[in-house]
Amino acid sequence: MAEPLRIAILGLGTVGGGVARVLLEQRERIACRAGRRIEIRRVLVREVGKSRDVDLPPGCVTTDVREIVGDPEIAVAVETMGGVDPARRYVLDLLNAGKDVVTANKALLYAHGEELFRVARERGRTIAFEASVAGGVPVIATVCQALAANQITSIEAVLNGTSNFILSEMFHQGRPYEQAVALAQQHGYAEADPTMDVDGTDAAQKLTILTQLAFGTKVPLEAFPRQGIDTLELADLIFADELGYRVKLLAVAKLDHGRLEMHVQPTLVRRGRPLAELDGVYNRIGIAGDVVGKVWLTGLGAGRMATASAVLADLIDVATGRAQLTFPRLDVWSERPPIPILPADEIERRYYLRFNVEDRPHVFADIADILGRNGISLASIIQHEAPEPDEETGDESEQPIVPLVVMTHRTREGSIRAADAELDSVSALRPPRVCMPVAD
Ligand code: NAP
Ligand code: HSE
Repeated sequence: MAEPLRIAILGLGTVGGGVARVLLEQRERIACRAGRRIEIRRVLVREVGKSRDVDLPPGCVTTDVREIVGDPEIAVAVETMGGVDPARRYVLDLLNAGKDVVTANKALLYAHGEELFRVARERGRTIAFEASVAGGVPVIATVCQALAANQITSIEAVLNGTSNFILSEMFHQGRPYEQAVALAQQHGYAEADPTMDVDGTDAAQKLTILTQLAFGTKVPLEAFPRQGIDTLELADLIFADELGYRVKLLAVAKLDHGRLEMHVQPTLVRRGRPLAELDGVYNRIGIAGDVVGKVWLTGLGAGRMATASAVLADLIDVATGRAQLTFPRLDVWSERPPIPILPADEIERRYYLRFNVEDRPHVFADIADILGRNGISLASIIQHEAPEPDEETGDESEQPIVPLVVMTHRTREGSIRAADAELDSVSALRPPRVCMPVAD
């Protein structure tokens, strides 16, 4: 067998800990697949004294990245520390020192991928990043290798495991939102700052990585609509169910007459469809290609061992030399002109709207008038009777507030936004107003 491949792991948390564990517990299997032993020579953490559930070789834990950058024996660094700084600086130093890098860090790639890839290329090094999108689901390899003969025409996906887990816990277990977030953190699904998961940032960063690989176009997050699940209420999940839908944080990138339509938004998906029937921390990605048709991938989108599986696949690819062959061929080097992005106002879909309204005359007429004048046609309406006021505590003089749900026919996002601005003037409306697209 060849010389062992000596590696460093930067970050020994949820993912890094899983990677170390498999490397130590499955030495023979990994050596067999990689064609040589993979040895952990150094591990970088913030706090050496913290108790770890991985039995590392003595003396390998450090807080000083220079012990990794300056060690000529280390050929590959696995970056599983997360965050943008100092991860960017460390990865640049590692590449400049002649090391290949495996990373799970989509925030880093979104912010500095261009620079890191350029430096890697200039230095003849490789960056492998399967774990940066969809945890254990091999979507990067699928887009870059398995579907290489295709022009991909659309990607529609659930890409944030934490949000999907939270929505499932709220809907199926009746768990309050905050409790579901805390549970996702306990399981190690959420980012260090879970805001990135629940406000749609994490899914949007992953979508931009896929978009660059599939369409050769780098898109900033500001260029497309992005909304998270943090503004939803259980009532919306229940109304969606009554209408025959599930609510999913859907990430979409699709070619539409030479332009790229992109959005990350909580979306109503008809029950029975593959993306609707996905519960828990799973991710599911539908990719359409002009040669293959539609391909679906499903698996755990977050969590220790699922993500470690993707990191280790990259590490094995680097050990065998496969990654060094594929990295220079990625579409991130595309010299094609970028595909223009469809302006948000021109995106056309059906919408679910929920209003909290005072239950008094003419309120619905006012809302319908504003929607109608903005060219929005109504497909269905739900308003249940207000509950009877409690005989002992109810104040009959107070106007009851009831939810009013409207499903629209297809309309443009621009019309929805214009109507929304006008609805500010309706005094009978109480916050929040909820608006979600419908995936047909
Ligand atoms: P985590 O559990 O918070 O672990 C982070 C690790 O990095 C810890 O061991 C920490 O050291 C170390 N670290 C952080 N900043 C450091 C610094 N400045 N210097 C030295 N060490 C530092 O994070 P994680 O959940 O494993 O996520 C890591 C990366 O994987 C992120 O980029 C994330 O987006 C990505 N990812 C995570 C998942 C998942 O399910 N968790 C899935 C896919 C991708 P201490 O232990 O000493 O604090
Ligand atoms: N926090 C991310 C998620 C981890 O929940 O999907 C995987 O990138």
